[in-house]
Amino acid sequence: MAKTPLAVLASLLIIVATGTPTGCEEHGGMMSQSSNDTRQPLPLLPMMAAHQRQNMREHLAAVQAIVAAIARDDMAGVAKASAGLGFTEAMGQMCEHMGAAAPGFTPMALNFHRTADTIGDAARSGDRQRVLSALDQTLQTCVGCHAAYRQEVVDEEIWRRLTAPHATR
Ligand code: HEC
Repeated sequence: MAKTPLAVLASLLIIVATGTPTGCEEHGGMMSQSSNDTRQPLPLLPMMAAHQRQNMREHLAAVQAIVAAIARDDMAGVAKASAGLGFTEAMGQMCEHMGAAAPGFTPMALNFHRTADTIGDAARSGDRQRVLSALDQTLQTCVGCHAAYRQEVVDEEIWRRLTAPHATR
């Protein structure tokens, strides 16, 4: 017997309600503790992990401020907003500390800040195209590090072991 339109609708609703994965579910593996997340761990003490995430949110806010200034054609604004992403001695020391238990992390972090410095250089030259390309280069360093590392919160004992001279994982 042919299905009535109502029966077809009912089975469609069941499919929608129960089965087909959405984009969000497919990306569930991005969660840091997920077993199918194959990125390298970035071991951090709980306070460092919270601090790092806060830094990250500030980096995103700086990128937003840079884009806003580009949209206004405000090159002085770009230079000012990009200063927060650039390299400083204090920033370098923090990156050393954050990466103490994750081989390869600190060089990536330092390369990010050095690349971000080129945004300000480009803005001071007044060349909007160079600013965009420096911003692109910088965003590539964000994307590259996110593809390589995930946070792993560890306790004091594990942190001490991982950061001891000649530590092995
Ligand atoms: C050297 C590595 C590195 C670089 C460079 C980097 N990040 Fe991150 N970022 C991380 C790690 C590690 C996490 C934690 C991700 C995880 O555990 O899944 C993170 C998390 C974040 C988060 C989430 C913060 C939260 O509250 O959870 C944001 C937003 C973010 N990064 C933005 C950026 C932006 C924007 C840039 C570049 C302008 C950037 N990051 C560059 C390593 C990096």
